[in-house]
Amino acid sequence: MQRVIEPELMDDPAQAAAYAAADFAEAHSRIVDSFDNCFPGADVKGQVLDLGCGPGDICFRFAARFPACSVMGVDGSRAMIQLANARKARDAVTGDRVRFIEGRLPGAAIPAVPFAAVISNSLLHHLHEPQVLWATIGRYASPGTRIYVVDLFRPESVAEAQRLVIEYAASEPDILRRDFYNSLCAAFEPREVEAQLATAGLTGLAVGVISDRHLAVHGVLDK
Ligand SMILES: C[S@@+](CC[C@H](N)C(=O)[O-])C[C@H]1O[C@@H](n2cnc3c(N)ncnc32)[C@H](O)[C@@H]1O
Repeated sequence: MQRVIEPELMDDPAQAAAYAAADFAEAHSRIVDSFDNCFPGADVKGQVLDLGCGPGDICFRFAARFPACSVMGVDGSRAMIQLANARKARDAVTGDRVRFIEGRLPGAAIPAVPFAAVISNSLLHHLHEPQVLWATIGRYASPGTRIYVVDLFRPESVAEAQRLVIEYAASEPDILRRDFYNSLCAAFEPREVEAQLATAGLTGLAVGVISDRHLAVHGVLDK
């Protein structure tokens, strides 16, 4: 089916609050596990950049798993960054190792420091121009930076998108079911992501399908 874009930023406070209240514990722990599996034996030391961090759940999980890293989450939604900072104020485990920057890509004021890893979950499908993500990664990654990007992929049909919403979000509030459906329709197919990487000149990254609705891009840039 054709891609149908959705608004980039999740800046409606009700939408951001519903997203922050959803239980992503299993999905987000799996992302941190998968990062660990993709880069076996590697402790993550230094700065980690999380692009499109939303309310920051993955930032906190990542910082808790890798105690020698600090995570910088970036999101263009003020509502999301406020939720992330509110959680930071309550979080006793990761303390000052997690910080958030409100900024829309491209152009967010991200410090030009060496990043040990650049991660991103569910940002790509929001972007009207997907090269914004790949250009940002190209700009902030250096040789040795580990890249791990996860997103939905676009189903073959509207019927399959509807089936996925019923299977994975039937008991969620209306606003989340609507967002999930719209996100599936806005997502890219794996071959489209491969073409995006080629256009961006990012070599060294592999695209893989990791579930019936997710793809992952991982690797270390050849540069
Ligand atoms: C579906 S949420 C994912 C949040 C988080 N990564 C997670 O996995 O829970 C996508 C986030 O990307 C943000 N976003 C979308 N377009 C953006 C852009 N151009 N610049 C910065 N953030 C953006 C949205 O505001 C939203 O918080």
